[in-house]
Amino acid sequence: MSAKLYSLVDFIKQHYQTTDFLPLHEPRFDQHEKDLVQDCIDSTFVSSVGKYVDQFEQKLAAFTDSKYAIATVNGTSALHIALLLAGVERDTEIITQALSFIATCNAISYCGAEPIFVDVAKQTLGMSPQSLAEFLEQNGQISNNQCYNKQTKKRIAACVPMHTFGHPCEIDTIQAICEQWHIPLIEDAAESLGSYYKNKHTGNFGKLAAISFNGNKIITAGGGGAILTNDEQLAKKAKHITTTAKLPHKWEFNHDQIGYNYRMPNLNAALLCAQLDKLTGFIVNKRETAARYHDWCQKNEITFITEPPHAKSNYWLNAIILPDKTDQQEFLRIANEQGVMSRPVWTLLNQLPMFKHCQTMPQTNAQWLADRLVNIPSSVKKNRINQQTRRWHPQELKN
Ligand SMILES: Cc1ncc(COP(=O)(O)O)c(C=O)c1O
Repeated sequence: MSAKLYSLVDFIKQHYQTTDFLPLHEPRFDQHEKDLVQDCIDSTFVSSVGKYVDQFEQKLAAFTDSKYAIATVNGTSALHIALLLAGVERDTEIITQALSFIATCNAISYCGAEPIFVDVAKQTLGMSPQSLAEFLEQNGQISNNQCYNKQTKKRIAACVPMHTFGHPCEIDTIQAICEQWHIPLIEDAAESLGSYYKNKHTGNFGKLAAISFNGNKIITAGGGGAILTNDEQLAKKAKHITTTAKLPHKWEFNHDQIGYNYRMPNLNAALLCAQLDKLTGFIVNKRETAARYHDWCQKNEITFITEPPHAKSNYWLNAIILPDKTDQQEFLRIANEQGVMSRPVWTLLNQLPMFKHCQTMPQTNAQWLADRLVNIPSSVKKNRINQQTRRWHPQELKN
């Protein structure tokens, strides 16, 4: 196995045509970003009011086929507000997956709610509909059109599946289960901008969804996020409470509820407008890298995670599955020693001290993946993107 692991590291370096340090995911900017940011600085409208925030929201809604997009300071705040607007209150419970980034559970905690962990599916890496249904059959009870947990007597106020590494989970089946059990569905689509399930952009299956534009995401402004929704009332409320719940007036300051200072600054939005123009190109480029990884892995009998059935994935972060934990640890050591950044999946959230006590379904698949999975460098290839000036349309990705 060792020889194979060394040659995979060589292949990655060769693919990215570099012997320098290779990060897991680095952003790509060129003159287009510089032009828009310069224009924003020149306008002096660098903060939460400005043309780029509005423009970005419109462009993002169009790209994701969502009726509304509300830009926020980061993905965690987007998720926090999405949960509040779905009716999550103190002392309620939220069903989610333990195989996720900490932000999913942080947002739940900010609401004073607690997570319940179900397993993930091996093929999608996202929430397992079977585990979700099993949990609800064992513990769920409908009363007054709401779902309660028979064990804790608490209301199950939302279900938050996550599209891991950009690969869509079986979101339509999850949506049907949530409907059956009267549980609002919120998609953690932080990683899946540009990913489709059955020709529908992720983030359009639930009441609301959250996207992240953190520095490691497919497009970025250093920090940033967005709430997606197709519900006009929810969109209005989202805009209102992310902008300190200020009542519109030219000079008076009045606020009608506790609000949040979560609005994305215009400066970040300018950068994101430029990034969004390139998004389809980035995805095409990343899908080419994934295809090359897949090809190499097939020839060398290593499992490469490919997009699940019925999905078109943005292949945000590529992942391989090694035979066991020993191989996983060896690859991590070899790759990182050679400057090829690679990492295992996050520590399962149910194992963290803050969430150890939370109700948890068997994590058979999540643990299996945690013991074997490794993320490998996945940035957009530089030499391919530099000359790229044409604008792309998301329609190109759908087929
Ligand atoms: C699954 C998931 N949820 C939420 C977030 C939170 O996004 P942010 O870092 O923009 O707050 C991220 C990314 O960082 C993420 O990967």
